[in-house]
Amino acid sequence: MTIWTPTLDPTLPRYRALAEAIRLDIASGLLKEDERLPPQRRLADALGVTIGTVTRGYAEAERHGLVRARVGSGTYVNAPVSAGPVPDRRFGHALHARPSFGIAAESDDSLSASSGVMDLTMSLPPPHPARQQGMAAALTAISHSPEALVRSVEYQNEFGVGSHRQLLASWMSELGMPVEPEELMLTQGGQNGITLALSALLAPGEAVVTGALTYPGLIAATAERGLKLLRVPLDEEGMDVEALARLCRQQVPRMVYVMAEQNNPGAAQLSHARREALVALARQHDFWILEDGVQYLPREECGTRLYQMAPERTLYVFSTSKLLAGGLRLGVLRAPVEVLSRIGAVLRSHSWMVAPLLMETVCAWLTSGNATQLVDWQVEEMRARQRLARTLLGEWTLSSRPSSFDLWLVLPEGQRSQAVVESLARRGVHVTSAEPFCVGNEPPPQALRLCLSAAESREVLTRALEIVREVLHAPPPLRCTTL
Ligand SMILES: Cc1ncc(COP(=O)(O)O)c(C=O)c1O
Repeated sequence: MTIWTPTLDPTLPRYRALAEAIRLDIASGLLKEDERLPPQRRLADALGVTIGTVTRGYAEAERHGLVRARVGSGTYVNAPVSAGPVPDRRFGHALHARPSFGIAAESDDSLSASSGVMDLTMSLPPPHPARQQGMAAALTAISHSPEALVRSVEYQNEFGVGSHRQLLASWMSELGMPVEPEELMLTQGGQNGITLALSALLAPGEAVVTGALTYPGLIAATAERGLKLLRVPLDEEGMDVEALARLCRQQVPRMVYVMAEQNNPGAAQLSHARREALVALARQHDFWILEDGVQYLPREECGTRLYQMAPERTLYVFSTSKLLAGGLRLGVLRAPVEVLSRIGAVLRSHSWMVAPLLMETVCAWLTSGNATQLVDWQVEEMRARQRLARTLLGEWTLSSRPSSFDLWLVLPEGQRSQAVVESLARRGVHVTSAEPFCVGNEPPPQALRLCLSAAESREVLTRALEIVREVLHAPPPLRCTTL
């Protein structure tokens, strides 16, 4: 009888290659649930390795939850865990939801380990069972509140329910973003806040300026509206405002889009001097500033917000997606009150209003009081993940803020991001190159964005980063093509 005889990846230590082969063959269906793996000696003979290698390989696979050993009976394949819908990586984040987690924290790790997919492409809040619990508690609270139930089934106005705006204003203020309820409107997430601002204030053909690497949702939204997207260079102090001033001499933009606290990608923070220069330039040339604060940082890591420095011309985009849950995307758009009705008219024409149940859910969650605790935990968790990444990848050029979700890794001379991304994907680790963030057609820098927050746990993150390290130490050879 022929036995299962995998092909071992020659770039890995053999025991790891065996565990990896088990993972891949479970994922492809070649190894079925409850199937018994070949006896160790027979497999060792078939593969031409020592029995010790097979023992270690099986143990490694067991450690990752792929198989289970039964004393005296052999090693059996565990059930595969679906990795969920395949993410669309065009914009560096999936268009589909991630797989759902069980309430228990332990299940998170086994999910990733047994599916073998370590997806670090999406900027997601780090998993924690409190997210599902918060959601459950919020839904229960709504179901027990006659007022909330009435509001949930009724049409609401386009700015959102007044008491919700008040609640969100005080939560944002608590988080270091002081705003007044009258200057807010509720949106269907941060992306919706961006599109509403563009549609309400700009006409097709007008120019928006952003950093040379920017949030892909802005690139898509400007393209869809027939707006011109122009770029200025970025450095470690954020957008080059002198270059913006030079650009303004040739072509005055209608709007400048900026992620002042941390650019996505790369995490550059706009220095205070540049914030002042940007505001002065905006007043001189009369353009709008669209400040995107969706990628949350605690107040001690932030500078003065642009909307506080130039409230009359700055719109601020915020969302609960990076704080409560990616699926619970209630956005808040802060704008000068004079333009709120224009923005409201666009929201009305697009979707009439934000789904009342979404507003109720977020507000019930905020009222329950555990949102702040969750945010505090998240900040500490991200600080720990950033430290871990710097320990494991410290020999490369890295950039991030202390509690950023993402880490930007600049590849050493001679390495190509596309080849590295592909090589990592073959090892089950998915990351994003700079390509989707590029404005215009200048070649992208050879760099990777690793969303540390997306890993199911620190253990999974460690495994993923160890693989990144191994691949960077033995980079894929550059392919020689016929020209
Ligand atoms: C900088 C930035 N702005 C806006 C968004 C969109 O936010 P939301 O998911 O709330 O629509 C994202 C999402 O990743 C983002 O990174």
